[in-house]
Amino acid sequence: MLVRVGSSNDVAAGAIRVFDVAGTKVNVASVSGRLYAFDDACTHRGCSLANGDLDGTTLTCACHGARFDVTSGDVLRGPAERPVRSRTVQVEGTDLLIEA
Ligand code: FES
Repeated sequence: MLVRVGSSNDVAAGAIRVFDVAGTKVNVASVSGRLYAFDDACTHRGCSLANGDLDGTTLTCACHGARFDVTSGDVLRGPAERPVRSRTVQVEGTDLLIEA
């Protein structure tokens, strides 16, 4: 199920914004005109990935440097071993919808 969390204009180009999706923090990253949604908690020790560094589609966790591919949630570099959950994101008009 997709839930409306805000406006597509809420996420600036090249930036990450965190939204509440049914009680879970979920990030939306805007990269080259596309939006990608994934859970905020790093699978290493739970730091907020919204505080990480986004370079293209690669997000580096600010705590211990794990890297994730925001398009899939896959781990690109440890110490994290498990992917973050990637979620479907959709824009209808200006409504921003994220998979709950
Ligand atoms: S909590 Fe993200 S790398 Fe450790």
